[in-house]
Amino acid sequence: MTSPLPPNECTPALQPSPLGGWDLEVRLPDLAKPLDFAAIFGREARTEIEIGSGSGVFLSTEAARRPDVNFLAIEVEGSEVKRAKDKWRRRDLPNTRILRCDALYFLEDYPADASVDAYIILYSDPWPKKRHHKRRLFQPRLLPILRRTLKPGAPLTIKTDVTEYYEVMIELFRGADFLELEFDRRLDHDPVTDDIETNFQQKAREKGHPLHFMRYRRR
Ligand SMILES: C[S@@+](CC[C@H](N)C(=O)[O-])C[C@H]1O[C@@H](n2cnc3c(N)ncnc32)[C@H](O)[C@@H]1O
Repeated sequence: MTSPLPPNECTPALQPSPLGGWDLEVRLPDLAKPLDFAAIFGREARTEIEIGSGSGVFLSTEAARRPDVNFLAIEVEGSEVKRAKDKWRRRDLPNTRILRCDALYFLEDYPADASVDAYIILYSDPWPKKRHHKRRLFQPRLLPILRRTLKPGAPLTIKTDVTEYYEVMIELFRGADFLELEFDRRLDHDPVTDDIETNFQQKAREKGHPLHFMRYRRR
């Protein structure tokens, strides 16, 4: 785990892809504030955001299953951004885009009010040491982002294999009256048929970790 990029270290200007056409990567200096999802994806469509996509395993399947949806991934690690882009390009997923940036910094400022149709956060880094807790995604800074940017009724889907971090999430959202809990289940006890297993979920399952799976909805 490395620390998130400081705000001024998001990636430089948009470059044409060596494969022709435009890269699946979007760069912060090219983005309007508030964000124009139609300009990013070249079409008006439901737009969902995955935070901390790693090497892009979840969207490789989800974006293929739901071609009518625009998916924007936000990932802080450059090597993971490259892996995700390569994977999605090979699988021909034109409904994906990725931004290399610290997600909290970006989401605080860029998306318009009530513009995001869903957030997906899978196996977010738990940063177990107390002095690193400020690097966690699930911290009080996340709440105004969710309240402001989610559309009414839009879901926030979360998975984690770290029970201590799961408890932090539950406690954080207990104080958020704009969210309601739709479900809180254990995938290791109660599997879901159409589940998508990410790299971290596979490792967690093989180690016998608990697989917490929750969904909240914006009221
Ligand atoms: C434990 S990995 C999980 C990756 C993937 N979701 C999975 O389930 O396999 C967490 C990912 O979140 C990214 N990440 C951590 N903090 C972030 C932040 N503030 N903004 C964007 N991405 C972040 C990390 O670089 C890493 O790729």
